[in-house]
Amino acid sequence: MSLDLFAEQDLQQPARVERISDQAFVLRGFALPRIKELLAALDTVLLQSPLRQMQTPGGFTMSARLSSCGDWGWTTDRDGYRYSPVDPLNARPWPAMPGVFLALAEAAASAAGFENFVPDACLINSYAPGAKMSLHQDKNERSFIAPIVSVSLGLPAVFQFGGFERSDPSQRISLFHGDIVVWGGVDRLRFHGVMPIKPGHHSLLGQQRINITLRQAD
Ligand code: SIN
Ligand code: FE2
Repeated sequence: MSLDLFAEQDLQQPARVERISDQAFVLRGFALPRIKELLAALDTVLLQSPLRQMQTPGGFTMSARLSSCGDWGWTTDRDGYRYSPVDPLNARPWPAMPGVFLALAEAAASAAGFENFVPDACLINSYAPGAKMSLHQDKNERSFIAPIVSVSLGLPAVFQFGGFERSDPSQRISLFHGDIVVWGGVDRLRFHGVMPIKPGHHSLLGQQRINITLRQAD
């Protein structure tokens, strides 16, 4: 049996699943069986479309550095937030979505009860120690039912998973290298964010946390 078949089999093993809301789940260690392939693909993507700091429409600089791959990438500037088929940094289409991203996203979505998930956008966030993501809703996608599949890599983080108003209380969930959070359906528009990353060193990714979120944008 080839190594690849082993990997496919691993994805079908029951992962440790934690339900955090009706249609929201943390899949502990779900990405670990494919992690080497995933990191190699990520390197290739980031060589073509490097991480960069972005300005919010309000004029703030985001503390996480961002890039994207897939048909649609997410960008922000003084004019607003939007998905674009072109990377504004190099005026070329975003790098293609790697096959391992697609396979992992489909398997994770299915483990969370969302069948036939085919993402067309992948947002990549890199957090140095101290970087954070304020509470927000993911609202630039066409469908508010299709899930968000969010893969954590590198340094741990405290993820905030809130309600439908910014001021609602949030759960605080520790996320580790290889964990995947999936939220969709009735939970799709919940506010969420990331607390400031604590200093540390990860054996594979150094002093950073990388999060990749797979979405159906169009
Ligand atoms: C995001 O909401 O785009 C990022 C979430 C995370 O970094 O875990
Ligand atoms: Fe988000």
